[in-house]
Formats: sequence, structure tokens, C-alpha cells
Amino acid sequence: MNTTPFDPKQFRQALGAFTTGVTIVTTRGADAQDYGMTANSFNSVSIDPPMVLWSINKDSSSAQAFTEGAHFAVHILATDQEALSNRFAKSGADKFTGLNLQRGPSDIPLLEGCSARFQCKTTYQYEGGDHIILVGEVLAFDRFDKAPLVFHSGGYRRLQPAAAQRPTSAIYGENWLGFLLGRAYYQLQLPIRQQLQAMGMQDQDFELLGILSFSEGRTLDELFRLFEFTGKALAEEQLALWLQKGLLTLDSGRVLFTDKGRQLAIQWLAFAKAAEMNALEALAFDEAQQLKLLIGRVIQHTGSELPAHWRKENIWQDNNLWQQPDAIASAR
Ligand SMILES: Cc1cc2nc3c(=O)[nH]c(=O)nc-3n(C[C@H](O)[C@H](O)[C@H](O)COP(=O)(O)O)c2cc1C
Repeated sequence: MNTTPFDPKQFRQALGAFTTGVTIVTTRGADAQDYGMTANSFNSVSIDPPMVLWSINKDSSSAQAFTEGAHFAVHILATDQEALSNRFAKSGADKFTGLNLQRGPSDIPLLEGCSARFQCKTTYQYEGGDHIILVGEVLAFDRFDKAPLVFHSGGYRRLQPAAAQRPTSAIYGENWLGFLLGRAYYQLQLPIRQQLQAMGMQDQDFELLGILSFSEGRTLDELFRLFEFTGKALAEEQLALWLQKGLLTLDSGRVLFTDKGRQLAIQWLAFAKAAEMNALEALAFDEAQQLKLLIGRVIQHTGSELPAHWRKENIWQDNNLWQQPDAIASAR
């Protein structure tokens, strides 16, 4: 019987305003099976003695293993462990299949790749309505240098430095997204342009090389449309020159690189990768992923008249940009 004086859904939503990390808590059952679940009720309790707590739903299939177990381990998940979090948020099943495990006291399973990990002795248990509060004394812990996964309002989030959210006092032009993206683009391109220039290539050659590298195998018509999208027209003479130089070939109306052309494209790609690595030195791995994700969203939202053959989808998939911070169905 529901004794909540509020609408449980609204209550849960209000609780979701409290932003937490995400953990996976594991233990070993008396049946010699591994148990684990995603939990965000984790919290620190005491420094001396070192203690932590979390709460477990009495209805969860691993409740008995945790309440009877002498030890448990808490893993604070890293940003790239969203899939693992989802795996451990499903009831029962083989959650540990294929994972590399170490073992702690009472043989409890220890997971890898997290931000921090605590091996605990179960010291106290308290009644907490439909949950049991488990308090553990920390016997050992590990800290790994990985950014944490964040949970808020039923969805995964990423940490963002507060400074990045402060509105800048820069004049309008400098604060305009187009200016920032454009300036970043031209600065990124500069070393690539210089290296290609040193190889005797002209501006229009860079454009063609760049577009072809993403769109090899397009028809001439598609290629002209793609070029138009950059605000410039592709000169027929230039294409003819590339064909004449043996960089490109036409196969059933489709434009393909020759071996010589492909060598050039690979070289361009190497310059481009080096320029990207140099630029991303300014950012932590997570920040770089976040930047690509956010720019990806802007791209997805704009340019509706973009030719379909731009293969926008591939760019998302290659950069793993599909995932949005959607509400998770199984979220509490
Ligand atoms: C982000 C997140 C946090 C969660 N936190 C808790 C929690 O603190 N306690 C709990 O009992 N269940 C929590 N859950 C739900 C459990 O992970 C889920 O019920 C799981 O299926 C339990 O596994 P089991 O039934 O195999 O024991 C959480 C789920 C998510 C996605």
C-alpha cells in the first residue's frame, strides 16, 4: 500500500534535483555468486574512523547478498562508464560477464576503470523505509585520475568547470559562436595550410582535398553541391587539372582517388590529426569529448538544407556523438 503523502513520481523528481556521482556497489554472496548494482545513494560519513554509506532497495534481487555479506566494494564511476552503469542498473542477469575482476576481502569482486574504489567492511545496517541503509568501514581505497560520471534529474551528465559557464564580458563579436568556431577552425587549419602550401598546393586544392577525403565516391553532381555548401564554387578546370595530374579518376560517374591521390589524402589526414592533437593539448580528454559532443549538437541542429550525402551520420557515429543525456528508463 502506498503511504506516501505525496505523488511518488513528483517526489522522486524533486529528489532528482540533488546531483550525485554514480557508483556500482559489489559483493560476494554466500552462494559464491558475484552481486552488484548501480547506486547513487552513496555518501561519505566519517573520516576517522573512515566510513561510508549507501542504501539498498529491499526489493532488489541482490538485497540479501548485501545485507548478509561481511564486505562490499563501492566503485565511483568514470565518465566513460555509462554503459557499465546501465548494465548494473538492470535486475539480476549476468552483470559481471566479460569484466576483468580483482578480488577483495571475502572474495568481493573489484571492477576496473573507475574514478575511485572503496573496499568496505559492513559495520551497521539501519531501517530506511523501503530501503536499508548500509554503513561500511573503509579498509582500503584506490584513487584513479579519471573524471567522474554525474547523475542529475534522471540522466547522466558530465562535469563542467564553473568558469566555463560564466558569461564573458567580451564584446558581442568575440562572444558570437560563429566567430569562436570560425576562429578555432582557421587557427586549426593554419599549420595544415602552411604544410600543403609548402608542397605547392593552392587554397582551392585544400578545399577539394578536404571534401574528397570525407566524401570519396560521390558523383560529380554531389561534389559540386557539397562545394557550394562551403560558400565557394568548385571550378571545373580545377577538377580537370586533378584528373590530369593523376590524383583523381572517374569511375561510372563517381570521383575516386587514384593511389597517388590517396597518398596525398593520407598526408593531409596526418597533418590534420597532428593539428588536432596540438589543439587538444589545451583540454583534458573529457573536455575534448565534451567539446566535440556540444559542437556536434550545434551541427545537428543547424544546416537543415545540408545535402544528405554529406554523411553527417557518419561523423556522429565516428565521434560517438549519438548519446544524449536522455532520462534513463530504469532510473530510480
Ligand atoms: C543512477 C542510478 C542510481 C541508483 N541508485 C540506487 C540506490 O542507491 N539503491 C538502490 O537500491 N537502487 C539504485 N538504483 C537502481 C538499481 O541499480 C536497480 O534497481 C538494479 O536493478 C538493482 O539490481 P538487482 O535487482 O540485481 O539487485 C539506481 C539506478 C540508477 C540508474
